[in-house]
Amino acid sequence: MLRDIRTNYQKSGLDENTLNKDPFAQFNCWLKEAIDGKGLDPTAMILSTIDQNGNPESRVVLLKEFTSDGLVFFTNYNSKKGRQIAVNHNVSVVFFWAETERQVRIKGIAQKISESDSEAYYLSRPLESQLGAWASPQSQIINSREVLDQNYSQYLQYFQSKEMKKPPYWGGFLIRPQYFEFWQGRENRLHDRIEFQLQDQGWTIKRLSP
Ligand SMILES: Cc1cc2nc3c(=O)[nH]c(=O)nc-3n(C[C@H](O)[C@H](O)[C@H](O)COP(=O)(O)O)c2cc1C
Repeated sequence: MLRDIRTNYQKSGLDENTLNKDPFAQFNCWLKEAIDGKGLDPTAMILSTIDQNGNPESRVVLLKEFTSDGLVFFTNYNSKKGRQIAVNHNVSVVFFWAETERQVRIKGIAQKISESDSEAYYLSRPLESQLGAWASPQSQIINSREVLDQNYSQYLQYFQSKEMKKPPYWGGFLIRPQYFEFWQGRENRLHDRIEFQLQDQGWTIKRLSP
């Protein structure tokens, strides 16, 4: 029964004394530990955007870079998420790392990265992924699976005699965080939650009740 499934979290704690006062460093540390934890897809994050009616929409994307500016993921700019961000750049992402019993929630502002940075990343991807980006009109309705397979074959053939290049509609978004919440599962549902909020003077740090 679903109602009988429950985990008692007791691996670790999060306290103000050991917490890094820089949320980027704290995130980096947890990300590294999640990667070392060998869970499936530790860089997977649930990205929420807002549609034109103000309704949220969520999906998984992969974190491909984390720098002092923020989080970078790649996608089709003509996809639903790409179009939604073009109208409303406020986004949120959530990471859930079961192995380390942690969740991180981030809110921020998304902006396109430079064409040259997108190009450099695109050209570093395996050929199959590069062709996939050409073959898929992401988020559009297609008549059948065959449409994709045919597109893929056509591009495979096309690029046998042409130098590979990035589709103009494909690239990265940088999310500049303005808010982080670090959640560490604890015993008896008394989890640790610490939030960082970006203010004019820097980051404020507050503990939240679980
Ligand atoms: C594990 C996982 C990783 C994914 N990574 C990406 C990604 O990095 N970029 C992307 O555009 N879609 C990725 N997807 C697909 C998206 O979840 C989504 O189906 C797609 O981007 C279309 O979303 P949209 O119609 O809301 O734009 C991933 C899906 C999964 C399950």
